[in-house]
Amino acid sequence: MPTVTAMRVLVSGGAGYIGSHTVVQLVAAGHDVVVVDNFANSNPTVVNRLEALTGQHLPLHAFDLRDVDKTEHLFAHDRIDAVVHFAGFKAVGESVELPLEYYENNLGATFSLVRAMQRHNVDKLVFSSSATVYGAEAPVPMTEALPTSATNPYGWTKVMIEQVLRDVAAARPSWRIALLRYFNPVGAHPSGTIGEDPADIPNNLMPYIAQVAVGRRDKLRVFGNDYDTPDGTGVRDYIHVEDLAAGHVAALAKLTTTDASVSTWNLGTGHGTSVMDLLHAFERAVGHELPYEVVGRRAGDIAASYADPSLAQKELGWKAVRTIDDMCVDTWRWQRQNPDGYPSA
Ligand code: NAD
Ligand code: UD1
Repeated sequence: MPTVTAMRVLVSGGAGYIGSHTVVQLVAAGHDVVVVDNFANSNPTVVNRLEALTGQHLPLHAFDLRDVDKTEHLFAHDRIDAVVHFAGFKAVGESVELPLEYYENNLGATFSLVRAMQRHNVDKLVFSSSATVYGAEAPVPMTEALPTSATNPYGWTKVMIEQVLRDVAAARPSWRIALLRYFNPVGAHPSGTIGEDPADIPNNLMPYIAQVAVGRRDKLRVFGNDYDTPDGTGVRDYIHVEDLAAGHVAALAKLTTTDASVSTWNLGTGHGTSVMDLLHAFERAVGHELPYEVVGRRAGDIAASYADPSLAQKELGWKAVRTIDDMCVDTWRWQRQNPDGYPSA
């Protein structure tokens, strides 16, 4: 790992699922953390739990990043060195229903943030991109060199923001930007006090299985078992959110030493796991079988997606180390301790 230069880091979306886990690791690495979140998809309780986990007071700014005056005020009154930018909407299906809201929020929050950074000479940015930018036709394992595209408005916001940030870096040579393309983040902090808390019926596999296990859903519906994969069910690269958080700490450190103005890194394990494999691993964590039913394919799904993570390993000295069983055990601890998620604020 590169040597860590302690920085004052603004974490946008720091109360969200990945942001909260990253806050804990940024503090552990010696950084001062400031959080901005409007709780559009999170709960203020998270910040109390983060303070308990880190033993530190975390300055919190509760506002919408699209508010340019408040964003400007934040940068004018605090000496921010770097930004880790998680804030955005992330539900694929919802983005198809509400495209304008997705473009406005994801692009608007980024414009406001980057403008304030420019005005205050803050030139280090880590951005949450997604493997979704590889589109529907990419060969596996996916490398950073593949062309980008998207199949839904959410995915387009990631493709577009990546392009905006490349253009900003080209215009301002001092900037150092990391575009982190996450594969499928799952798992929870080993304390079981923070984790993923979907606002509605989960769309994603792991939180759905966890809610079946805790009795909130009657059974898992497996979306198709006729894919060209070893057991016919969809294959994905699940990555423990703790490994993902460590990837952000490593990427931020790298921005202080690299000569590259923009760096793009896949954050995945490089291993594919099928729906049935994940279900069985969760059953091992819980200690009994879980009900499921095979139904038709979900529109827009691809057979297999997994990373070639070798660039991040080579350039960041970072590697995902946690297993599928670790991911299930930690998800189950979080779900068991918080059957209904975070208490309402
Ligand atoms: P999340 O919804 O849990 O966290 C996002 C946070 O941003 C929330 O706390 C939300 O309240 C906040 N937010 C949204 N819009 C805001 C705004 N305009 N101003 C201030 N705060 C705002 O999502 P997550 O799973 O933690 O994802 C974090 C980032 O990683 C997102 O950009 C997402 O697109 C990206 N990503 C997530 C996944 C995944 O599967 N979870 C995969 C790839 C990429
Ligand atoms: C989803 C998003 C993708 C995003 C990724 C991040 C969609 C269409 N795509 O992808 O843009 O980057 O999350 O984590 O939402 N499955 C079931 N039953 C369920 C839920 C899922 O069988 O109830 C299957 C899916 O068909 C898929 C696998 O489980 O094969 C994983 O699904 P999911 O967790 O939704 O992730 P992605 O499809 O990779």
